[in-house]
Amino acid sequence: MAKERILVTSALPYANGPLHVGHAIGAYIPADVYVRYHRLKRNDVLFICGTDEHGTPITVTAEQEGITPKRVVDKYYKIIASAFSTLGISFDNFSRTTRELHYRNSQEFFLRIMEKGFIYKKRVERPYCPRCERFLPDRFVKGTCPYCNAEDQRGDQCEVCGKQLEPHELKDSYCVICHGKPEQKETEHWFFRLNKFSDELKKWIQGNRHWPDNARNFALGWISEGLEDRAITRDLGWGIPIPMKGAEGKVLYVWFDAPIGYISSTQEWAEKVGKPDEWKKYWVEKCKIVHFIGKDNIPFHAIMWPAMLMARSGFNLPWQISSNEYLTLEGQKMSTSRGWVLWLHELLKEFDPDLVRYYLLSINPERHDADFSFKEFQHKINNELVAALGNFVNRSLSFIEKQGSKIPEMKDFDELDEQMLEFIRESPSHVGGNIEKFKFLDALKELMRIAHFGNEYFQKKEPWKNENSTTLYLCANLTRTLAILSAPFLPHSAERLWRVLNLKGSVFDETWDSAGELDVKEKHKLGKVELLYKKIEDDEIERFEKKVLKTSESEKMNHIEFSEFEKLDLRIGKIKEVRDHPKANKLYLLKVDLGKGDVRQLVAGIKTVYKKEELRGGHVVVVANLKPIDVRGEKSEGMILAADVDGKPVLLMPDKKVKVGARVK
Ligand code: 2FM
Ligand code: ZN
Repeated sequence: MAKERILVTSALPYANGPLHVGHAIGAYIPADVYVRYHRLKRNDVLFICGTDEHGTPITVTAEQEGITPKRVVDKYYKIIASAFSTLGISFDNFSRTTRELHYRNSQEFFLRIMEKGFIYKKRVERPYCPRCERFLPDRFVKGTCPYCNAEDQRGDQCEVCGKQLEPHELKDSYCVICHGKPEQKETEHWFFRLNKFSDELKKWIQGNRHWPDNARNFALGWISEGLEDRAITRDLGWGIPIPMKGAEGKVLYVWFDAPIGYISSTQEWAEKVGKPDEWKKYWVEKCKIVHFIGKDNIPFHAIMWPAMLMARSGFNLPWQISSNEYLTLEGQKMSTSRGWVLWLHELLKEFDPDLVRYYLLSINPERHDADFSFKEFQHKINNELVAALGNFVNRSLSFIEKQGSKIPEMKDFDELDEQMLEFIRESPSHVGGNIEKFKFLDALKELMRIAHFGNEYFQKKEPWKNENSTTLYLCANLTRTLAILSAPFLPHSAERLWRVLNLKGSVFDETWDSAGELDVKEKHKLGKVELLYKKIEDDEIERFEKKVLKTSESEKMNHIEFSEFEKLDLRIGKIKEVRDHPKANKLYLLKVDLGKGDVRQLVAGIKTVYKKEELRGGHVVVVANLKPIDVRGEKSEGMILAADVDGKPVLLMPDKKVKVGARVK
């Protein structure tokens, strides 16, 4: 059969934090199974990824951690790349969107579609947080979805009804950084004429009969509601500059440059292998492009990215988009901010990567959300992987080892042996057929069915009682079948098994279809038999669960020592004077008396809530030892404390008469 050419991509993860188990099973493990399978099928397959290193979340992390965005992405690139490598995700190239080649590509892409008339400039109003003094990206504005009334939805998309949103459409919106009320502020941006591609997209998606129904219907639904042109630039200091005059301070929208990263990473690979034009085989010549993504990335991969490619023309459109649903942790949605999260690198520190791959694949959220549970992890490893696959391999090979490690001769065949032969022959297509259809759960079940069959066969044959040459010969061969067919799922242990079988080279040098042949020959000598997998003991899983979930609990509350609290000098001050800040219309300049002649000027953002006369003479709590700062040209020598009530400040004032300058403890 002619070779197929396939380019597989996994969503570029944000270099903004480590990966959790939901990410791993979302877009990476299934992609790796798919790629390893096609390599064994000897198709021309290339596996591409990299970190997505732009966007506001990275600048916000940088501020929180007190480092530059560059240092944030450098740090997480390393953590992410190393977790992928331990897990055995076999990318051909893992790039970064901050590399120069990618800057050039993205800018050229922008200019090219602009020349073709698909980009225009427009003055618009964007959400701006006056307290944070910055434009807010869509997902940093939250509020109630205007379509389905779900609360706490992000300004780019409602997770409940799936609608794409504009932040100003949200009801009761607030800034996720400071909980203040965002305003709409005028700015200028470049827009992509997405609307122009409605008909072309519709035809293309309707023609994609090989897409799963849900993705097709979802995408067609959006188009029928009318696609709006999208701003593809942002007011931000971190990102790829717009290659135009008058665009200072603006960068490309992260979702414009990220998918171009798939192309950049392919080009980088081509350069690394010393064939700089080879990338065109995948993007320009005939090739199936398969994007593995999480469910929240569907709109960008099914609509926006194909439209960008249509606008540019000359590159292949995606052939398939394989998306997974979400993974919960012990029944609850994972949340980094709440600390309810299981980091992939932590799990991999304790457990064999193939145990992690097996469990996650066995609960793959292919069609529905799935749940990670520690008990179930232990149960599935011990009662499925160890009890079926591990047990069959260990039983048969140990038996042969005891008889001198030589594969015995094939003698007479009975009906059961015939069935076994048939089973070996048919297994590759049973497992492979499911992988080709992106049915990873079914593929894994087929793989485990082989192991179960092997155990049953061994049990029925009773080689410890009966003449056993044919039995052991066939068992050794079924073990080889299992090594090859498990290789996409469990690459590390498949290789270990290959060594025990003492076969030539690596299991990955074999072809998939050869798993259906009898290729462990009579008289072949086995290597030393060792256990393929170790059971997970009760105390091991309990200790681990306690450790990671305890971390999660304590991460929820960032405790400080009492000595740190003591460093705060909180005092009662009396407001003597209130003036408007000359340069900011939401700020007051206050003169506050802290006693003993200590009168300070403070800048306070309370003008929208308090009138001057309400403040004069009032007693407030002041952080007296805060380093003085300059707020828009005015000195602020401390801070008054206020409660945050739905984004509005409510001042803390003593309910009895208190001497000016009294300590608050
Ligand atoms: O959702 C995310 O993590 C994005 N960084 C995915 C980008 S996918 C692609 F377009 F690069
Ligand atoms: Zn804010």
